[in-house]
Amino acid sequence: MASADVVTMDKIVALCKRRGFVFPASEIYGGIANTYDYGHYGVLLKNNVKAEWWRAMLQDRDDVVALDSAIIQHPRVWESSGHLAGFSDPLVQCLGECKKRWRLDHLQEAAVERGEDPSLVRCPQCGGELSEPRDFNLMFKTQIGTVADTGSTVYLRPETAQGIFVDFKQVLAVSRKKPPFGIAQIGKSFRNEITPGNFIFRTLEFEQMEMEFFVPPAESQTWHEHWMKARFDWYTDLGVREDHLRLRPHEQDELSHYSSGTSDVEYLFPIGWSELEGIAHRGDYDLSAHQQGSGEKLEYFDPQTRERYLPHVIEPAAGCDRATLAFLVDAYDEEELEGGDVRTVLRLHPRLAPVKVAVLPLVKKDGQPELAREIRDSLRRVGQTEYDEGGSVGKRYRRQDEVGTPWCVTVDHQTLEDRTVTVRDRDTLEQERVAIDDLPALIAGRLAQPWRSPKA
Ligand code: GAP
Repeated sequence: MASADVVTMDKIVALCKRRGFVFPASEIYGGIANTYDYGHYGVLLKNNVKAEWWRAMLQDRDDVVALDSAIIQHPRVWESSGHLAGFSDPLVQCLGECKKRWRLDHLQEAAVERGEDPSLVRCPQCGGELSEPRDFNLMFKTQIGTVADTGSTVYLRPETAQGIFVDFKQVLAVSRKKPPFGIAQIGKSFRNEITPGNFIFRTLEFEQMEMEFFVPPAESQTWHEHWMKARFDWYTDLGVREDHLRLRPHEQDELSHYSSGTSDVEYLFPIGWSELEGIAHRGDYDLSAHQQGSGEKLEYFDPQTRERYLPHVIEPAAGCDRATLAFLVDAYDEEELEGGDVRTVLRLHPRLAPVKVAVLPLVKKDGQPELAREIRDSLRRVGQTEYDEGGSVGKRYRRQDEVGTPWCVTVDHQTLEDRTVTVRDRDTLEQERVAIDDLPALIAGRLAQPWRSPKA
């Protein structure tokens, strides 16, 4: 049934625009670099991704608590964290015709891959000579109040993690948790990225799903391994094909300033293997930096062992938009039907699908629309539903396939006689006859079942 992997980034971008998942922001003004808006189906899909992350962090375990910290923190947070001094990319500018800016490290990596000398790189666009590299800080600056002086400068957070570290003491005091325990947060982060974005893979503003897990130092290695496996499994449990996913340990020279060891979960995007999420061993870098910067003691005192220590941190840091893109790419399929027609279908995990059930009257008369609406209302509590009576039933099935709706319920002549409907499966295309009264339990039961991609 599943065809060869036909997905390309262009097809994903086109589908997202056509069906209103995601489209360029400020488009009537010509758009703005690396910035996108999410439409109806995109919001529903991304909300489901976030709900599954919260479920894995909070509902499925009892050693993680939630937080929603401010985007604009005290500027000294970024001084202590090292972001003001070190969160920068080496930028070069073309001195030839095009004057474009590039990231030197990216140009050099590409040169090494082509077997060329990285010290001789030139502008990829016009071949011009490049300027000396200059460190370019990725944080967006703004100001509090009406007078722009140095005291009023603040930054939009480039990661959600620091809000967790600066609240560690407060959360520890009220959550009745002790290490090992975690603090999880989802929220927007902002980076003045200067590289081409590849759609929502790399944007100026994006949502992160980050969890800082505070552990006794002696247990840190075990917990690092625990979280690498747990986070890899999260993606496969949500249907991502295992052969399109890998864990890649960072080389020593790739490690961030805070990390003593990081492994990335990578996905095989159409642009090649790329990072979805990093699982870093941050040691006591952050708590120690904020303890020093703020003067507040951030140690944990264990009343049993009478030990006082700074917990070490294991951090699974995922991108919500990037995960959404990976789920879309992994789900995209084209299937040749009898007669040579091709149907485009998003084979999303049913729990991720924006709409769970579409209810369709076969014809717009004989009481079918009324009954279909009644059925739709009975399913609202089970999940997101949609009612659609526009166009031929074949066209309506195709529309639902394109947005990944796992089940279509069709009301026909027989429904009015015996209160049964057909339930069409998005992936197998099988149709079964089911009593209307059994529908909510049937759909709820299927949503709770394990699911594997038919593309696997
Ligand atoms: N607190 C650690 C941290 O922020 P990171 O690897 O820089 O680590 C974590 O970011 C995740 O956030 C990445 O794996 C990626 O999924 C996502 N991310 C980072 N920058 C992004 C960007 N410009 N656009 C979209 N997602 C991004």
